[in-house]
Amino acid sequence: MTAHENAVQRISIVGTGYVGLSTAVCFASRGYDVIASTRSEDKVRTINAKRAPFYEPGLDEAVRTSIESGHLHAEINRSEAVRQTEVTFLTVGTPEKADGTIDLRYVISASEDIGRALTRKKTYHLVVVKSTVTPGTVRGPVKAALEEASGLVAGRDFGLCMNPEFLRQGSAIRDTLYPDRVVIGEYDKRSGQRLADLLEGFYGSGIPILRMSLESAEMVKYASNTFLAMKISYANEMARICERVPGVDVSKVMAGVGLDERINPKFLNAGAGFGGSCLPKDTKALCKFAEAQGYSAPLLRATLAVNQAQASHVAQLALATLGEPRGKKVALLGLSFKPDTDDLREAPSLTVARTLLGAGARVSAFDPAVKQVSQPGFEGLDYPSSISECLAGAHCCIILTEWEQFKRLTPDDFIQSMATPAVIDARRIFDPHEFGNRLTFLAVGVGRELDVCRTSVRDND
Ligand code: UDX
Repeated sequence: MTAHENAVQRISIVGTGYVGLSTAVCFASRGYDVIASTRSEDKVRTINAKRAPFYEPGLDEAVRTSIESGHLHAEINRSEAVRQTEVTFLTVGTPEKADGTIDLRYVISASEDIGRALTRKKTYHLVVVKSTVTPGTVRGPVKAALEEASGLVAGRDFGLCMNPEFLRQGSAIRDTLYPDRVVIGEYDKRSGQRLADLLEGFYGSGIPILRMSLESAEMVKYASNTFLAMKISYANEMARICERVPGVDVSKVMAGVGLDERINPKFLNAGAGFGGSCLPKDTKALCKFAEAQGYSAPLLRATLAVNQAQASHVAQLALATLGEPRGKKVALLGLSFKPDTDDLREAPSLTVARTLLGAGARVSAFDPAVKQVSQPGFEGLDYPSSISECLAGAHCCIILTEWEQFKRLTPDDFIQSMATPAVIDARRIFDPHEFGNRLTFLAVGVGRELDVCRTSVRDND
């Protein structure tokens, strides 16, 4: 049999979130036959009707072309998906429990389903975990669930790998197609080689593929995400220091720092803090994991503490410009945790909105993708349908997400609409000189004579 005849052609993906569906359409776009399996009948219907079940740039189009080419279809029955394919990627979510540790419920039940399907397979099958799990999970509970449900033995009867995913929301497809590196954690050499062959075929040459133990691969994902979180908290800490020194601008400082090749300029943008489904959750989970191993992880704790304080600090800057907040209108531009997504998970905007509502301000929010905040505690938020409606009659405006349309606003847009033109730039999208000369303007990380940064800092330190 030639290498080509032996090559993997049929792939199942269990889970159709950002990671699962992006992986599915990318394999399908390169000619692999992919079955995307989800427990949600709604999602199955939506995908088979050629649409993405959630907002992600380019995904709708990618789902449409993949379904039309016949290389992708969605399936409710996981066993069927596994049986008809040679490799299964497990991409279900690992949400956060109340105590900050990860909830493995979905990973384990998916592993059991995959295991049950394996009993009826006559050929070698490779199971690849892509979900973010703490070190020891794949060799421990995942392998146990697969073996118990199948009656088979990992390494002998089926393959087992860990292949962490590094895609970002908003650029999920590009990140999946062109990753900086590919990491393979392998239970045994045969499993690792099988996945390496598949991924070399998929990516071609030029993308480094690193092979290591399952545990090291699990740790790479946490180490990467917490390093990114730490870079952002570092930039935010520098911003808080810069704000106390008139004439200093953290964005200039970070530009100077980032050009050192040992550091690099990415993820050094000071702002309202990091949100989203990964950086906060993974940093908390690694903290908890380290604690359970007897290490207190002070750097990770500080990363989280700086991040929590940053969103509160932005709210305090707004309160300082308002004077008495009761009855005053605050306009929030942006709610999502970053542009090009409608995701609100751990968004700094929530902390800012909660603080302002709690202080008695009237809060209006406009976001191009988020129509409203449905969780409890935000009933008082008002959702105007345009930027100008949001700004109309406001006493303060806070930029909370750096959407492109906000970047095009000029000082006149604020001066003409607002009751008292005051802007807090928490995403550093405006030129401090241009805006500072025309209206009350405070930007994260820009040094000023005003006392507001000092008072606000003491309040929440
Ligand atoms: C992140 C990781 O980047 C990705 O590799 C991993 O697979 C999943 O988690 P994501 O959550 O989609 O991706 O968003 P990311 O672009 O990392 O941004 C996270 C948060 O950090 C956002 O709230 C963003 O506004 C903030 N951020 C990012 C900053 O405040 N400053 C920066 O310089 C960069």
